[in-house]
Amino acid sequence: MKQPVRHIFLIGMMGSGKSRVGSLLAKRLTYTFIDLDRQIEITAGKSIPEIFGEDGESAFRELETRVAKDTDLSKSAVIATGGGFPLKEANRIWMRQQGDIVWLKADPRTILERIQDEDRPLLPKPVTTEKIEAILKDRLPVYEKAHLQLDTDQRDPNEIAEQIAKWILCKRP
Ligand code: S3P
Repeated sequence: MKQPVRHIFLIGMMGSGKSRVGSLLAKRLTYTFIDLDRQIEITAGKSIPEIFGEDGESAFRELETRVAKDTDLSKSAVIATGGGFPLKEANRIWMRQQGDIVWLKADPRTILERIQDEDRPLLPKPVTTEKIEAILKDRLPVYEKAHLQLDTDQRDPNEIAEQIAKWILCKRP
């Protein structure tokens, strides 16, 4: 029997492994993988730091919502969202209508290790655990509404993807 089209949204802070886990999970389930940040860069024709720098955060947030809504969701997909995507209520409603939401959790120290050499507009250098904690604190009430929460600290992305796949296959056999 043909399975209904349903999606899996990965949410969580920068550096929580959404893109890596998302691509592994999509392979495991034979779903399409969509990385919203990459789609935004393709649509804008510039990098995320350039969008923030030239157009500002609110332009980025509008583009983020528009790109998500324009995404081809005709086949079941794993969608890695940007860390700030679920902050907008409209985005949360949209995700809930389309499928399941999984929060990849990471400790601020883990996030720091993973992103300290990268160019992150919301975390200018020097990145500190205090700066990460401040962003995370505001986002926790939103992230906590996910259908599934998983710790990613010191865990292999393959193992995390497998855990999500098992959970999904119980719900969507
Ligand atoms: C952001 C996270 C980034 C990117 C943008 C804003 C955020 O994506 O969308 O820099 O608000 O946390 P990742 O979470 O994929 O790094």
